Amino acid sequence: MDPDFWHERWQANQIGFHQSETNRHLLRHWPQLDLAADSRILVPLCGKSLDILWLLEQGHPVVGIEISRLAVEAFFAENRLTPEVYEEPFGRRYVVDQLEVLCADFFSLTAEDTGKVAAFYDRAALIALTPSQRPGYVEHLTRLLDGGTTGLLITLDYNQSEMSGPPFSVPREEVYHLFEPAFSIEQLFEFDALEENQRFREKGVTTLSEHAWHLRRSQA
Ligand SMILES: C[S@@+](CC[C@H](N)C(=O)[O-])C[C@H]1O[C@@H](n2cnc3c(N)ncnc32)[C@H](O)[C@@H]1O
Repeated sequence: MDPDFWHERWQANQIGFHQSETNRHLLRHWPQLDLAADSRILVPLCGKSLDILWLLEQGHPVVGIEISRLAVEAFFAENRLTPEVYEEPFGRRYVVDQLEVLCADFFSLTAEDTGKVAAFYDRAALIALTPSQRPGYVEHLTRLLDGGTTGLLITLDYNQSEMSGPPFSVPREEVYHLFEPAFSIEQLFEFDALEENQRFREKGVTTLSEHAWHLRRSQA
């Protein structure tokens, strides 16, 4: 999906991916990453996710990346936060307390732009991308992370012929194919999510599982 697709989604408020509560896999599995509270977290393709607020509440400095200015400004307005805004070559940097949001194309950012992070959180980022975009996303993410960086990834698995994405199905084998050998991979959880996802059932999806993964960037 190109940037225009996402700009149009935000413009039309077609943001079915946005959750009004903190993601349950984040709540349940984040402690397994065993991070110090002051560990800085990268949240790629962050939208206006409330998960950012939860990470901040745990004490983590957060750097989010989001291409839509509408989404970024909605995040700050809806959460009554007033950031400082800096014009940068890549776009805009919004800063408030322990939070930075870079309004930019993820693929254009360098590790200098994002700064050093100890972990990343990917919910609805990898699965928002087409099969042909996913290898480039993982390669770029890998470039932004030092060896030893850990992360929580949430994916969906369903029969792609039953529905077109996004969100796309990223089957278990593809997770291994994309992330190994740059990352070690541990599957934390698999959950049958069909019952609670009416939107998928209405489109004819017959099986749907959610997976949580603990990734660790190998030492270079
Ligand atoms: C499916 S949404 C998920 C948002 C968020 N992670 C969440 O859980 O609500 C994907 C987001 O990625 C953003 N996006 C898409 N392509 C991007 C890119 N190349 N760089 C930065 N953000 C991008 C879209 O604007 C959209 O907000």
